[in-house]
Amino acid sequence: MKVDVLLGMQWGDEGKGKAVDVLTPHYDVVARFQGGPNAGHTLEFEGHKMVLHTIPSGIFRENTRNVIGNGVIIDPYVMGQEIKEASAYTDVKSKLFISLKANLILPTHRLLDHANEAAMGSRKIGSTLKGIGPTYTDKTARKGLRIGDILSPDFDTRYRMLKEAHLRQVESMGFDYAEVCMEGMPFETYEKAWLEALEHLRSYQLVSTEYLINNALSDGKSVLAEGAQGTLLDVDFGTYPYVTSSNTIAAGACSGLGVGPSAIGRVFGLFKAYCTRVGTGVFPTELFDETGEYLRKQGQEFGATTKRPRRCGWIDLPLLKYACMLNGVTDLMMMKVDVLNGFETVKACTDYEIDGKVTREIPFCLDGAAHPVYTDFPGWEQPSEGGRISENLEKYLHFVENYLGRGFYLLSYGPDREETLIFK
Ligand code: GDP
Ligand code: IMO
Ligand code: MG
Repeated sequence: MKVDVLLGMQWGDEGKGKAVDVLTPHYDVVARFQGGPNAGHTLEFEGHKMVLHTIPSGIFRENTRNVIGNGVIIDPYVMGQEIKEASAYTDVKSKLFISLKANLILPTHRLLDHANEAAMGSRKIGSTLKGIGPTYTDKTARKGLRIGDILSPDFDTRYRMLKEAHLRQVESMGFDYAEVCMEGMPFETYEKAWLEALEHLRSYQLVSTEYLINNALSDGKSVLAEGAQGTLLDVDFGTYPYVTSSNTIAAGACSGLGVGPSAIGRVFGLFKAYCTRVGTGVFPTELFDETGEYLRKQGQEFGATTKRPRRCGWIDLPLLKYACMLNGVTDLMMMKVDVLNGFETVKACTDYEIDGKVTREIPFCLDGAAHPVYTDFPGWEQPSEGGRISENLEKYLHFVENYLGRGFYLLSYGPDREETLIFK
């Protein structure tokens, strides 16, 4: 059996949570492979709405094992709160497996995230302030603490040493953290709650998830790897430096779960029928007019993690083509087609004009010099409940398939798991 990968092809928030929840009945294992609580994956089912940050989006289906892989970074407090909330609907504990090799986000990593952002002023990344950058920095600098370390007798000493080093760093930056608020708490209160949550974590299934996944594959079980963020936030191929600190592309599933490239099967590439971005950085098709405002309102484009308003614009096909290439996408999934219902004309960026030349290739430095060239398409109606789609939408889908050189597997026309069309 293979590991199928599902990931975002834009700047995150494409609807990955919903899509994973829809696909989960076909899989035995669902696994997160990178990122951390910067993610906010929304699921709507049977009148409930849940936003997951660390727990995989397969958790609400029966008989599925949910894995948090080694590539993920974990804040025990944030995850603990999430587990409490999700436990109202399902037995999370029995279905969740956490990698011993996953790195821990310390409260002082979050302080450093605040300090770094404050120091950058107008050039700040616009991070989620969850400690993502500093935690991955410590991981690659080989200073981090991992989930498995909490079982070791010298954990307290190592925690204290790392915390003190972080505090010295924060102080040397002249950053006053008295006013910093983490999950509604000042630093000292947060640290206390964090340590309590860490204690609680010991009672969970902490395992070598690389064995769990590979054994599952050998036993003929199917695995779905759930990406977080999106391709354009990838630390190598995204719009650097305005990116996250992990590899969000399909290759990240190999290093973040401990599987070889030959174990990868299908790669589902998700995108919205338009495009959004939170935080700083280039966004060639961004709309600053009433259409952008309409998309934000109609699509309820406010961050699932930070509640920040998302920047909105038209779909960008050259960037999606780039994402298909980087990820080896086999199947396309278009989300939120309903948000464009009733538009007389829908625009899609099909080329860029850069220094008078028309191109589809993404330049090293994608900036204001890249002007989107648009193609207009006649708008469409909402797909009917039986899943029949209007002629205009069908034509548009064919155009996108031809442009990207892959076929559609799924179309989503509402937030609920039922509002989904699967193409055979
Ligand atoms: P993720 O981070 O990729 O999982 O996406 P988010 O949960 O951050 O943002 C996607 C938002 O769109 C959530 O509020 C979803 O409930 C919602 N959503 C997902 N699919 C659809 C859809 O097809 N139509 C509409 N209107 N909303 C959707
Ligand atoms: P999901 O999984 C959208 C963005 C932040 C910021 C940049 C770096 O829900 O799609 P970080 O906290 O990672 O250092 O922030 O990345 N970002 C996201 N934007 N969806 C996400 O996750 C994101 N995770 C990080 O807004 O611009
Ligand atoms: Mg999200």
